Amino acid sequence: MTRLVHLTDLHFGMERADLVAPLARAVRSAAPDLVIVTGDLTHRARPAQFRQAMGFLRALDLPFVAVPGNHDMPLVNLPLRLVAPFWRWRRGVGATVPPVAMAGSVRILPANTADPFRWRRGLLRADDVQRVTADLSAGALNVLACHHQLTEPPGFQRGETRGAAQALPALARQGLHVVLSGHLHHWNIGLGITPCQPQPVLMVQTGTALCARAGERDHGFALIEAQGADLSVTPWIAGAAGFAPHPARRFRRAAGAWHMSDANPAAPQMSESW
Ligand SMILES: [Fe+2]
Ligand SMILES: [Fe+2]
Repeated sequence: MTRLVHLTDLHFGMERADLVAPLARAVRSAAPDLVIVTGDLTHRARPAQFRQAMGFLRALDLPFVAVPGNHDMPLVNLPLRLVAPFWRWRRGVGATVPPVAMAGSVRILPANTADPFRWRRGLLRADDVQRVTADLSAGALNVLACHHQLTEPPGFQRGETRGAAQALPALARQGLHVVLSGHLHHWNIGLGITPCQPQPVLMVQTGTALCARAGERDHGFALIEAQGADLSVTPWIAGAAGFAPHPARRFRRAAGAWHMSDANPAAPQMSESW
């Protein structure tokens, strides 16, 4: 079995300081083979915030892959954002599109959806689509990791990621299986999958891990366990005693699509707010 932790929207610089150590403890106790961080490592892309975020990730002592979010570009320093939006990311973290990472039979295909010209909205670039397409592997579980959601859950009809709706059907046909994203600070696991309706791509939208802005809730991360055709997603949510696992969502891939395989198929649909 392959175990992945999906961590997103850390927002160092605007982080819940009280949750930092419990988060590190919980991620370590989940014992993943790989940690995938889908952007907004920082709140304002300041060098000290990148140092904080990277200090946190390195101290986990686990392999990790990270892609940028919109908050990892300068917001108010417009010249820097427009001329060299990822300069601070490169200095603080490294490549904006890290190499493909393998964990067991899971293949992580990173993409950078942060767009310096549209602060909040994302962009799935044609060259990223081309590279991801070329990197899909017939023998692996192919997982795209990016900051912005490629399909919007209910209540988020903002058209946030340019290029996604056009690219997704072709990526699905060519063997993309799972998309991990953040940005919305909202949980949605298995968007569109119901007991009667399978979907070719399993969307895992994970909430913010640490953001301290007013109104943020359900801080956590997702533990993804994959074995053969089966995959489960367990949200670990912050509570009084630290981060704790909530009931997992279970899926099975058959005939080119993901089906619900929860013990109780009449369980609530995959669109809770956490
Ligand atoms: Fe965020
Ligand atoms: Fe974001």
